This record gives sequence, C-alpha cells and structure tokens, in this order.
Amino acid sequence: MTTTESRTTTPTATTESRATSPTATAETPATATTETPAPEVPLPQQAGTVLTHIAGYMATRVTQMGLQSGLLRALATTPGATPGDLADALEMDEFFVSVWCRGAFGAGLLERAGAGYRLAPHMDTLLLDETSPAFAGGMFGVVSQPEMFGRFADNLHTGERFWWDDTSPDWIAGVAGTGRPFYTRLVPGGLARVPGLEEVLTSGARVVDTACGAGLGVLRLATTYSSATVIGVDGDPHSITRAQYAVEQAGLSDRVELLVSPLEEFALAEPADVVINNISMHECRDIDQVAERVLAALRPGGWFVISDFPFPDTDEGLRSVPGRLMSGIQFFEAQIDDQLLPRRAYDDLLTRHGFTDLGSFEISPVHAVTYGRRPA
Ligand SMILES: C[S@@+](CC[C@H](N)C(=O)[O-])C[C@H]1O[C@@H](n2cnc3c(N)ncnc32)[C@H](O)[C@@H]1O
Repeated sequence: MTTTESRTTTPTATTESRATSPTATAETPATATTETPAPEVPLPQQAGTVLTHIAGYMATRVTQMGLQSGLLRALATTPGATPGDLADALEMDEFFVSVWCRGAFGAGLLERAGAGYRLAPHMDTLLLDETSPAFAGGMFGVVSQPEMFGRFADNLHTGERFWWDDTSPDWIAGVAGTGRPFYTRLVPGGLARVPGLEEVLTSGARVVDTACGAGLGVLRLATTYSSATVIGVDGDPHSITRAQYAVEQAGLSDRVELLVSPLEEFALAEPADVVINNISMHECRDIDQVAERVLAALRPGGWFVISDFPFPDTDEGLRSVPGRLMSGIQFFEAQIDDQLLPRRAYDDLLTRHGFTDLGSFEISPVHAVTYGRRPA
C-alpha cells in the first residue's frame, strides 16, 4: 500500500467545503422545478399511499431479519420447510419463526408449500445471490445502518457532516454489498459496450479503479482481465486496508497496487489506459479537479468510465421507484456533504474538460454509465 495522503488533505466536511461544493446545495437545481398542481385526489387514495409506506417499512424489516438470521438462506436450501423445521435447524423459537414466515409470505418473499414455505420465484437471485447483476439483498443491510437515517435525524438541526473514516465497519461492509452488483453489471458487460474498450482491456491494459473502496472492483477487474495491471485509489485508509487484505487473499498482489489518496490529488507513475469510477464520482468534493487528475493520469486516447446512480432530473422521476430509492441514498450523501447527480452532469463535466468520443447508456434503472476519451 502506498500512502500519498496526509489527513489534512483528505476531503473533510467543513463549512468551507460545503460552500464550494457544486453538489451539496440546499436545492439541486435539476429537481427544483415548477410547482406541482394539487390534483383532486380522494382521501382513501392518499390513505393508501401512506399505508403502503408503512407496509414497505414492515417488508424491509422482515427481509433484513430473514437475511441476517439465515432464515431466507435456510428456505433456499430446504424448500417446503415448516416453521418447526426452521426453528430446529437454526435453534430459534418456533412461534416467533412462524410469525416471521407469515410476514415474509405477506411481503411476497415466500410462497406456501404444503405445511411449510419456499422462496417466491427469483427471490434467491434477488436477495441471496451476490454474484448476480440483479442482486438487491445488499441494500437491506445498508438502509438499516445508523449512517443512513439515524444520524441524519439526530443532526437535522445542526446539519453536522462527517466523512467515510467516521463510519462503522458494518457500514463499509454494507456499502461494498451495495456496490457489488454495480461492478457485476459493469465488468465485463458494461465495459464491453464502450466502443473499442474491450480489446484494450484484454491486451495487458493498465486500469485504475478510482474510489475503489473495499476492493471489490479491483478484484473483479484483475480476475476478469488476466493480463491487466490494476491500480485502486481511495481516500479512506480503512477501505484501502480492507482492499489490501482482499487482494492478498486472492493472490493478486503482483498485478494490483493500492494507493491512499484523495482523487483531487492522485497521480500515477505511468499513464493508464482506462480509469473507472464506480458509484463514487458524485462524492468528490471537486469533480472538476478529479476530471483534471484523471485526464493527466490517462495516456492519449485512454478512457474515463463513470458508473453511477442517475439521480432523476424530473418530478416524475423523483416519484418513480428508482427515484425514491436514490432519494433515500441522498440522506447518507448529504451527511458526507454531497448529493447524487443527474447523469447529464457527467456529459457536462467531460465536455468541460475536453474529453472526446462521449457516450452513455443505462444498465439498470438505478445504474448508468457515461464515458469519454482523452484526446489522442
Ligand atoms: C460508495 S463507496 C464506493 C466504493 C467502491 N467504488 C464500490 O463501488 O464498492 C465510495 C468510496 O469513495 C471514496 N471517496 C469518496 N470521495 C473521495 C475522494 N474525493 N477521494 C478519494 N476517495 C473518495 C470513499 O472513501 C469510499 O470508499
């Protein structure tokens, strides 16, 4: 591990940084649009909206409990198990397990199977298969951490900010679980959609994962492209320590290098062919400075690929299910002094800094890719 950072240069959530941050403003201009006309809506319909929220909260708790306790995993391996079977296998109280099973059935996670239950279709993929691009189980661990809503509520009056080095190991692990399907979709499928990139990646490329976090991306890149050299950069030393451990465990230390550095300051000894950023570009205090550092790190013709949440830029989008999920993520982002950005903000960024061959595509309703090349 190489440390190019001193704590004083790590992005910190100061009043000054808030004042200069392009992203954490009181109102995101893209979503502060015209007044919504008050439609004639009957009260029962509005009651349905409110009660659906409460039911969703219940379903979230039931799902998280099922994941954490192993109940969902047990039902995946023994379909048709009764609450008694589950209680015996997991040393739990049969009555409590029966309450959970009924709640999980109500939430659509389970189907009845004789006297017992089995997982509803695709729930094993969506909730338990970490390798699937459709894996959503990681989100439950994240939303239940205090960093998401609890600290925000506690600091509603003060607006107190923090940074990654003041979050818990459970939070870092939970975020890695959420980032995993983004990497699964991006590497190799998403990257193969960027014209000309696949050929370079499979021919001994130097690839950088900026804001690599706990190292899932560097591992995936290094194992997918077996001739590539991979460099992971992150501003949080704890995440880099985790990444370092994961790289050593995977036996990839000869092809993977890790740096602790704010992206606003990172520099490479040798130019890279590709620089990637997964679900982190919106977090940078100064995305223009980061774009300049990326440009300087790339060889002429090299690619910059930004894989991120596309925050809705319409009121309709804000009320969609993906929009509501992303609005939830904004509670954490606000506390680290940023906000998710609309995807077109990255077109503007890459254009401002002279990148060429710009393109973009959506991989899932909460995942978009924007790319450009350093002029040859
Ligand atoms: C949401 S996590 C994503 C990590 C990883 N890319 C993934 O998808 O699992 C964001 C990461 O960005 C890092 N980060 C945020 N702003 C940064 C900055 N300005 N410089 C360096 N790292 C930064 C954080 O330390 C954290 O590890």
